[in-house]
Amino acid sequence: MGKRHEGKVSLITGASRGIGRAIAERLAAEGSDVVLAARTEAACEPVAEAAAAHGVRTMNLALDVGDADSVKAGVKAALDEFGQVDHLINNAGITRDDLLLRLKDDAWDAVLKTDLTGVFLCSRAVLRSMLRRRQGRIVSISSVVGLMGNAGQTNYAAAKAGVHGFTKALAREVASRSITVNAIAPGYVESDMTDGLTDDIKQQLQEQIPLGRMGSGEDIAGVVSFLLSDDAAYMTGQVLSVDGGMYM
Ligand SMILES: NC(=O)c1ccc[n+]([C@@H]2O[C@H](COP(=O)([O-])OP(=O)(O)OC[C@H]3O[C@@H](n4cnc5c(N)ncnc54)[C@H](O)[C@@H]3O)[C@@H](O)[C@H]2O)c1
Repeated sequence: MGKRHEGKVSLITGASRGIGRAIAERLAAEGSDVVLAARTEAACEPVAEAAAAHGVRTMNLALDVGDADSVKAGVKAALDEFGQVDHLINNAGITRDDLLLRLKDDAWDAVLKTDLTGVFLCSRAVLRSMLRRRQGRIVSISSVVGLMGNAGQTNYAAAKAGVHGFTKALAREVASRSITVNAIAPGYVESDMTDGLTDDIKQQLQEQIPLGRMGSGEDIAGVVSFLLSDDAAYMTGQVLSVDGGMYM
């Protein structure tokens, strides 16, 4: 694989598994040092080993994206270690599904806190150093659900649609400093988040996907890598659908 991210430092949240892990391994394979953030450090160890095999530097960070102090301390530790963060990939996310009439306050709050406030806190924490260096890339992983809605996911849809508004507003704020801010809206991707779906539901979902299969972490990681590359230097404020054609 070409080393198009050599010399860069990428901080990936939710890097311990699923899509985040695929992103971390892809960026490492393309030469980027990786800061792997998840709720526990130990969870990132296997990812760090796989990344280090590509000869890049790695760092594991225990951090809760929804907690301002934790994010501040984590980003400071990354900057102390590497001196720079070139790429932030806001990938950490959770679901707590229920129909609205049954949706508990804490399920609403938890999803908004991780999936939307987390994007705000992590972006704010890395931004000062990006502004100073007049370069940087922020890519947030939202969801097709933020574009088309989904019964039983009002909290998740609201948070992910919020990420789209956040992305466009921040893109306008920092464009003059050559920092780009984009989002990727994946469709249904095989991961722990979707493992719990029954075979019937998976079958129904597959029928809604023109390309006829669920996505893989690698399908998403490839587009993240593109958005971080020089080829995407003239793209900002965009929400890219990577969903097998579900939403068009
Ligand atoms: N799997 C899908 O079908 C799908 C589809 C569209 C969008 N997404 C989005 O992609 C992202 C990754 O999803 P996934 O399927 O890989 O999920 P996953 O559940 O497999 O992994 C989520 C990761 O986020 C981390 N995380 C969760 N809460 C955190 C917090 N408060 N602080 C720090 N880390 C935290 C977990 O430790 C884990 O590493 C999420 O934002 C999700 O909403 C997933």
